[in-house]
Amino acid sequence: MTDITTSRRKFLGLTIGGVASTLLPSRSFATPGEGSEFRLHARPARSRIIGERYGLTDVWSYNDQAPGPELRVRVGQPVRVVVENGLAQDTSVHWHGIRLPNAMDGVPGLTQSAIRPGERFTYEFVPPDAGTFWYHPHVRGSEQVDRGLAGALIVEEEEPIDVDRDLTWILDDWRLTEQASISADFNNRHDASHAGRLGNVVTVNGQRMPAFPLVSGQRIRLRLINVANARNFALSFEQHQPLVIAIDGQPVAPHEPDGGLVTLGAAMRIDLLLDCRGAPGSRMRVFDRFYRRRAFILTELQYSNAAPAANKPPRPLPTLRANPLSEPDLENAETHELVLTGGAMGGMRGANLDGKWTDIRTLARSGLMWAMNGEVSRPDRFDPSFLTARVGSSHRIVLRNQSVFPHPMHLHGHHFRVIRRDSRRLAHLPWQDTVLVMPREEVEIAFRADNAGKWLFHCHVLEHMAAGMMTVVDVV
Ligand code: C2O
Ligand code: CU
Ligand code: CU
Repeated sequence: MTDITTSRRKFLGLTIGGVASTLLPSRSFATPGEGSEFRLHARPARSRIIGERYGLTDVWSYNDQAPGPELRVRVGQPVRVVVENGLAQDTSVHWHGIRLPNAMDGVPGLTQSAIRPGERFTYEFVPPDAGTFWYHPHVRGSEQVDRGLAGALIVEEEEPIDVDRDLTWILDDWRLTEQASISADFNNRHDASHAGRLGNVVTVNGQRMPAFPLVSGQRIRLRLINVANARNFALSFEQHQPLVIAIDGQPVAPHEPDGGLVTLGAAMRIDLLLDCRGAPGSRMRVFDRFYRRRAFILTELQYSNAAPAANKPPRPLPTLRANPLSEPDLENAETHELVLTGGAMGGMRGANLDGKWTDIRTLARSGLMWAMNGEVSRPDRFDPSFLTARVGSSHRIVLRNQSVFPHPMHLHGHHFRVIRRDSRRLAHLPWQDTVLVMPREEVEIAFRADNAGKWLFHCHVLEHMAAGMMTVVDVV
């Protein structure tokens, strides 16, 4: 494979041009109060990812779109989604971040049987939390999600906040060959043992550098969703000061992002409030600065020439109402440790596989490179159970990253509070379902196990998950 954009700079000079993505939110035929019903058909399709100079890319899609259609539902209203499998392999849909009944969680082998080719499965749940979520398969994720199977799930508040526009940006990362086709080197040893599958083309809503016109004076709610297999983002918005108003769907006291960078580990979401203070006709560039010395322009937004409405009174900050999460009892919580080891330069010599200590060479031969508390899990087996928790009990978990790569750790079926990073207690104790644990970092989280069932707890670098970083939290 030759890398068409290792010199990403080659692309940076391009002007935006072209039309903004035709992301038709396939609005449900929802009547308020009656819930919504959707159909998602997983099947191959073709998509224009990098502009006219290149051909179309074969992707896997929901309803011929990659990313799939944005599903918009109302908090507290029933949702029904009929998923049809038009792929040549098994699939499923997981509703990332939604606190739903275990049987609807979409993890074959743990919560349901896989949806076979040609078959369908109906998911039904009532989203308890308003916010920004997403959906994706939980079978061979490192290939299926990468090929395009992912979409936004927006749970609307009962009373929407006062903004002029509500925008979703699905951030994704593709590894494309010179023919603009998806490089098929999934789960190769290098990706699995390093930072995961990092690509060479980054897209917003399925297109590289799409055009989103801005209007001076407008206030935007910008919902960022990182659906990349492995890439983390740290965005800066030139000359703009967005405020973080929600993380992983859960409202947080509005604040400026740490160090001015909006950081999203793989699978995370951040809602921003963005006041468009630029002058008519000016531009705003959005940079990614997560990887040192590899900063690039994610997109470049152009202000229209329309003048802002004169003398608009300053608007108060809108407040998102907290979702009904149950607070962990920090005083009486049990404390556990989860030590993350392995990967290249990690010094791991071996770990337990199927209950037997196995040396690293033998593990690596089966594509396994990572361990949590010394246990390696196989991609489709869910035996290592890290924690059995009584319904209602509270738990603190200290995540210790002893490797040299970041790990976005994700718990199904719950949200947890992020309490501290190393010795720094966090100001907002945000609720999250995914937390990025940096190399050598120690992060403490706490949650109340209030949703019965078997829930995965795994690294959301999908290549790491496939190479051992997965365990189960069993709430009984
Ligand atoms: Cu985004 Cu196990 O999930
Ligand atoms: Cu999830
Ligand atoms: Cu990882």
